[in-house]
Amino acid sequence: MDIKRIGIITSGGDCGGLNAVIKGIARKAYALGIETVVVPNGYAGLYNLIDLDTVVVLNAERVSKIEASLAGSEAGHSRVKISKIDDPDKYERIKKGLKKFNIDGLIISGGDDTGSVVVDLTSQGIPCVHVPKTMDLDLQPYSVGGDSAINRISVFARDLKTTGLSHNRILVIEVFGRYVGHTAFRGGVGAEADAILIPEVPVDFDILYEHMKTTYFARIERSDVRAGTYIIVVAEGLKTSSGEMLYDESAGVDAFGHKKLAGAGKYIRQQLEKRLKTDPDVQAFMKRTGMYVPGIYVIPEVREVTPGHLVRSGQSSAYDVNFGYKAGAGAVVLLRDGRTGNTVTGVEGQKILYMPTTEAIKRREVDIEELALFESLGTCFGRKPVEFKPELCEEHRTERSM
Ligand code: F6P
Repeated sequence: MDIKRIGIITSGGDCGGLNAVIKGIARKAYALGIETVVVPNGYAGLYNLIDLDTVVVLNAERVSKIEASLAGSEAGHSRVKISKIDDPDKYERIKKGLKKFNIDGLIISGGDDTGSVVVDLTSQGIPCVHVPKTMDLDLQPYSVGGDSAINRISVFARDLKTTGLSHNRILVIEVFGRYVGHTAFRGGVGAEADAILIPEVPVDFDILYEHMKTTYFARIERSDVRAGTYIIVVAEGLKTSSGEMLYDESAGVDAFGHKKLAGAGKYIRQQLEKRLKTDPDVQAFMKRTGMYVPGIYVIPEVREVTPGHLVRSGQSSAYDVNFGYKAGAGAVVLLRDGRTGNTVTGVEGQKILYMPTTEAIKRREVDIEELALFESLGTCFGRKPVEFKPELCEEHRTERSM
């Protein structure tokens, strides 16, 4: 395949490391004598490319203006599924747009929905290579943005301890992650959260309450200034014990057709408050610790905090900048060599690793076997702890994705 010009698309939710992907693509392509251009604002921009007068060429000067360590994407985003566009000539329109700007192939960075469009466009004869991106980390390979989100979640949750300790608050921090709990889990561990609730484990609120009560009471009673907090990190896709997920029915669906998730933090607060109000030990504890004020302060405060888009904004982690550069550069080589319909999964030494995009976008959940280890160290996952029975295995291999 003779690739002289590559179009770069970033799609789905923005996150850390994307600008490094863009720079990795542009610089590797430049080194190979290939030009790169931005297709702006994700698949919306691809559909409307034909109507543009110009596209931005990522020459050396323009690329140097992009800051790799800043999250978000210089190329812009949208959540648009091409197959759902109400236009029978959409693929022809896209092909005409690509022809207009002499774009021979696309490198598209995004998550599972974006990847499904990569598969779709490839089947329509448009050469595409996929770079895995999603803070949710629910693809088979590592995806750029995950590490940045984990770091930010852990910093936010850790920082909230100062207000928690000042007011003896029980804090529930609800974080993005859609249907999986990778970032809540790793970010929660990073912040030394007391409880981490993820969609892979339906929550038993009596177990969570008992863990909270024991930990929180002991902390305050041990403290010479009677200060203590209890930190819960919860993934937005939380499942109640009946296996139900909490949707924000009033928020409708996003452009990819997913129902919007919301309310996990609030639901947990309500569950804990309900138990605090009816538990006779609570009033005794409040009196013992000098917190009790009749009619005003009779149970500890439970508050939910939702950092929302902050977890995917701001700075990218150094890991994501590294991965982004490598994956972006690797994608150029794949596209040049005609390996379309594939996802670059990493670069090890001189090897560019890849797999079919159809495989890469299959959902990966948290391996709940590992939770037992953290349960043995004291973390609550809203279930009866499972005994950690380690097996020793001598193995020489590189680290897999998080
Ligand atoms: O898929 C990434 C993600 O951050 C999810 O974790 C979250 O549910 C969703 O995007 C939020 O989407 P939006 O930015 O469109 O509100």
